[in-house]
Amino acid sequence: MKDNLMQAIVFETPGDPEVMHLGEVPLPVPGVKQVRIKVVAAGVNRADTLQRRGKYPPPPGASPLLGLEVSGVIDSVGTGCLKWKAGDRVMGLLSGGGYAQYVIMHEDMVMAVPDTLNLVNAAAIPEVFLTAYQSLVWLSHLQARETILIHAGASGVGTAAIQLALAMDAVPIVTASKEKHNLCSQLGARATIDYKSTDFAEEVKRISGGQGVDVIVDFIGGPYFKKNIEILNNDGRIVLLATMGGVKVEGFNLLNLITHRISVMGSTLRARSTEYQSRLTHEFWKYARHLFEDGSLRPVVDKIFTLHEAAMAHRLVEENKTAGKIILRIEE
Ligand SMILES: NC(=O)c1ccc[n+]([C@@H]2O[C@H](COP(=O)([O-])OP(=O)(O)OC[C@H]3O[C@@H](n4cnc5c(N)ncnc54)[C@H](OP(=O)(O)O)[C@@H]3O)[C@@H](O)[C@H]2O)c1
Repeated sequence: MKDNLMQAIVFETPGDPEVMHLGEVPLPVPGVKQVRIKVVAAGVNRADTLQRRGKYPPPPGASPLLGLEVSGVIDSVGTGCLKWKAGDRVMGLLSGGGYAQYVIMHEDMVMAVPDTLNLVNAAAIPEVFLTAYQSLVWLSHLQARETILIHAGASGVGTAAIQLALAMDAVPIVTASKEKHNLCSQLGARATIDYKSTDFAEEVKRISGGQGVDVIVDFIGGPYFKKNIEILNNDGRIVLLATMGGVKVEGFNLLNLITHRISVMGSTLRARSTEYQSRLTHEFWKYARHLFEDGSLRPVVDKIFTLHEAAMAHRLVEENKTAGKIILRIEE
């Protein structure tokens, strides 16, 4: 660290993965109740690829650098921070700035990484598990013995949602590309549907003996909406987290929602206040820490790249070739 500068991934103009390169940026200084973390690893998220393309600007006040989650070791603390000390092994969610040697984080957003967890793999936890926990517990109020359909089951959020659904004694079923079914089954999916070769709604009806599902976590949006409604039980809930397949729904009959008492919820975690994210972090880690310690939950890491290889990492995500999480290891 020279002249209070650090290395980070930067880009001058939005575009393809190759616009990213290593650069030098000011070393962040922890403010009141903030900690500075020496980053060991950063999780790669689809949102990073959209931000790199100029299609997902960081929320006001956020770091302009890419990176929504990190693991690492606390390097220094700001005034008034009483919860953490230098040397603590930690991880947490960020509104930006993770693709760098150091980040600052509010003390309430920090989770302690247990000794049983490898610090590099821990970077695969915050974004996808917090999103899945929020979707299953806070939004859809998933109950034991309910059936939940998780679209894109092998996605980062999908792999976390399968595990959390099982931990809650619910029954997870998924849609995913065929070559990703093994992973979903190993994580506990009770049924896997190849949405490319079959009609997922017909498959759900067949698997459930016409019963349908109670909750759906969806990232596809437009093209799935009518079919999702068709296979929801009475009092069913849909949590819509992304629109990877499109944003429009034509010719939908709203009576379907009324007669079956369906709730449709949309959510985006990144734009939430620090106060909201801190509450979520605190509640999630109180619930999940021992489950990670005893191996009931695990970070699902597909591949690990160095910071220099960020472009390769982004390409894999954009080409839908990943199953679980892609991690950037920050080198010394
Ligand atoms: N709202 C929120 O708070 C929030 C939080 C986190 C993430 N997200 C969003 O949720 C989505 C998933 O995130 P992630 O990081 O878990 O994703 P990911 O790990 O990158 O996985 C996405 C997977 O979705 C599948 N997919 C992509 N396009 C598809 C399409 N048109 N139709 C069907 N399947 C498609 C692909 O798997 P297959 O090979 O199986 O098709 C792909 O590998 C992203 O759009 C992300 O931005 C939202």
